[in-house]
Amino acid sequence: MINHEIKVAFDEYTSLKELHKTDQDLCAEAVKAMRNSHSPYSKFRVGAALKLQSGKIIHGSNQENVAYPSGLCAERVALFHWGANHPDDPVESMAVTAHTDEFKLVKPVTSCGSCLQVMAEYEKKQGKPLRVLLYCIDGPVWIINGIENLLPFLFFEERLA
Ligand code: THU
Repeated sequence: MINHEIKVAFDEYTSLKELHKTDQDLCAEAVKAMRNSHSPYSKFRVGAALKLQSGKIIHGSNQENVAYPSGLCAERVALFHWGANHPDDPVESMAVTAHTDEFKLVKPVTSCGSCLQVMAEYEKKQGKPLRVLLYCIDGPVWIINGIENLLPFLFFEERLA
């Protein structure tokens, strides 16, 4: 038997104020993106903002549906928009934030497995690491450089060969 250990790494900032201005601005864009969240069922609003190499910002927010599985997370709404409209303009960074009136969020919301797999796909496609900023409003910010730090056992398309 061989026991393997995998380390993942991320940087924690205690508040938004500690970040570079460009990262602060991107987190503010994720907050703006949350405005268009359609979340009448969970009442959990999620916003995602992508910063592209050209400087363009793309917003995504969670879009729920009365037929529950038909809804989609904020991250994938933003990333699929990118894939469909700006595939040649690499994503430098992505900020994600959330808010609910139901309880207080004290740490950043971490993206679901399906969103991580989609991030991994596009990171590979663009051939450049994707930085992810997980932002808790009035709380800490976690910055992750590269999706393998979020999903070490991601599914590789080479396996389809
Ligand atoms: N949600 C996201 O938008 N991103 C995630 O990574 C996890 C969850 C949304 C889906 C649903 O609209 C609500 O949060 C509650 O699960």
